[in-house]
Amino acid sequence: MTSNALTTVILAAGKGTRMKSRLPKVLHPIAGRPMLGHVLAAATGLDSARTVLVAGPGMDDVAEYARAVAANVSIAIQESQLGTGDAARAAAPQIADKDGVVLFVFGDTPLVRRETLAGMVERCRKESDIVILGFEAADPTGYGRIVSSGKEVNRIVEHKDASEEVRAIRLCFGGPMAVRAAHLPALLASLTNDNAQGEYYLTDFVAHGRASGLSCSAVICPESDIQGVNSRADLASAESVMQKRLRTVAMAGGVTFLDPETVYLSHDTSFGEDVTVGQNVVFAPGCRIASGATIKAFSHLEGADIGEGAEIGPFARIRPGTSVGRKARIGNFVETKKAKIEDGAKINHLSYIGDARVGAGANVGAGTITCNYDGYNKFFTDIGAGVFVGSNSSLVAPVKIGDGAYVGSGSVVTKDIAPDALAVARGKQFDKPGWAAAFRAKNEAAKQKKSSGE
Ligand code: UD1
Ligand code: CA
Repeated sequence: MTSNALTTVILAAGKGTRMKSRLPKVLHPIAGRPMLGHVLAAATGLDSARTVLVAGPGMDDVAEYARAVAANVSIAIQESQLGTGDAARAAAPQIADKDGVVLFVFGDTPLVRRETLAGMVERCRKESDIVILGFEAADPTGYGRIVSSGKEVNRIVEHKDASEEVRAIRLCFGGPMAVRAAHLPALLASLTNDNAQGEYYLTDFVAHGRASGLSCSAVICPESDIQGVNSRADLASAESVMQKRLRTVAMAGGVTFLDPETVYLSHDTSFGEDVTVGQNVVFAPGCRIASGATIKAFSHLEGADIGEGAEIGPFARIRPGTSVGRKARIGNFVETKKAKIEDGAKINHLSYIGDARVGAGANVGAGTITCNYDGYNKFFTDIGAGVFVGSNSSLVAPVKIGDGAYVGSGSVVTKDIAPDALAVARGKQFDKPGWAAAFRAKNEAAKQKKSSGE
């Protein structure tokens, strides 16, 4: 390992009591991804030699998630939640490189930017023994206050331990702290729980480090980059910051939002240029929208690939496993799932297309349903290129409709249809001439008799 190696330690063992949730706090999602995922993405984007995740006993879901999404993560278990300093202590045995830098980051600050962390690490390597991340809080209640003289930070005082005078300070500690690994053993040994909460505070590293002659400085970022999530209200606030950020990036990349505030994106939503998105559209995770596509108002998309120049909605529900080809069109009240809609195909109104292929240029009429499920298994419907499916047809899978075939309206298709054939599978129409007139005459006469007679 090189002497400047970075170990990132993510603290995620806290109980998150204020969330009032069975789900560990760091797994609550922001923009469709657990908070921990955002932090891991920022941290593993650094030149970290390794990432240590501190989790509580029994938080297997947290450990599993981290291992699944990030390479080079090892898990440290903090046996009891005695504070952030104690969590750092739990990680210590896994910090192999004694000459490098250790960066502590909290799992409940999902908005933290990689560049900010990189700047802290850089400064820690070159200038300061300890570098903390600070921000001016609009309402500092609950945060640790940064007490400094000039550029030198002297201590961080937790809200509950702070005097009125210190509470008036609005410069707060955001969570990330970079420390030269060589000093870590002494700093850890110096921790006590002699404070208002009876906890071991990571924040005490600053005062203890200063007392033994170490230097400490703060990198400052906007509150919207580091606000912590302790409650559901904080979660909503972080979500809204993240949404704003994602929309800004999308617009910079060439997307028109007719009303940006009403469009919800996921962390991984990707857009080509000249995409237009109408009002009240939701992009759940896993969506890729190619150039020139239009997503009209009130559509909900998830796990979908939308091709160039395709048109979706209004009021479309595009579910996972859908791919929509170039210039294909999916209209109002259409639901698709695991469906390959090929180039130029049209499903314009009121349909369910699941476990299916719709070939290039096919036209699926209003009210067409793929009957893909028998209560136990799912079956595939294959609609060939250039097929015309008449309105209100049920396609009972497994079934294959050959290229260029026609399906008469109202058909219940249970057998394969040959290419270019016409299939009609419905009750035959029969006409009785004059029946309606006779029916009306009879009933009108009875009505007359009733009102004049009695
Ligand atoms: C902490 C800081 C505070 C700072 C704020 C920023 C301390 C003592 N206080 O307060 O100065 O302004 O964050 O958001 O550090 N955790 C563990 N084990 C524990 C306790 C916590 O792993 O025993 C983890 C939590 O999962 C969480 C993070 O550490 O991700 C922060 O813990 P939390 O209890 O939320 O600290 P705050 O009160 O917000
Ligand atoms: Ca917190």
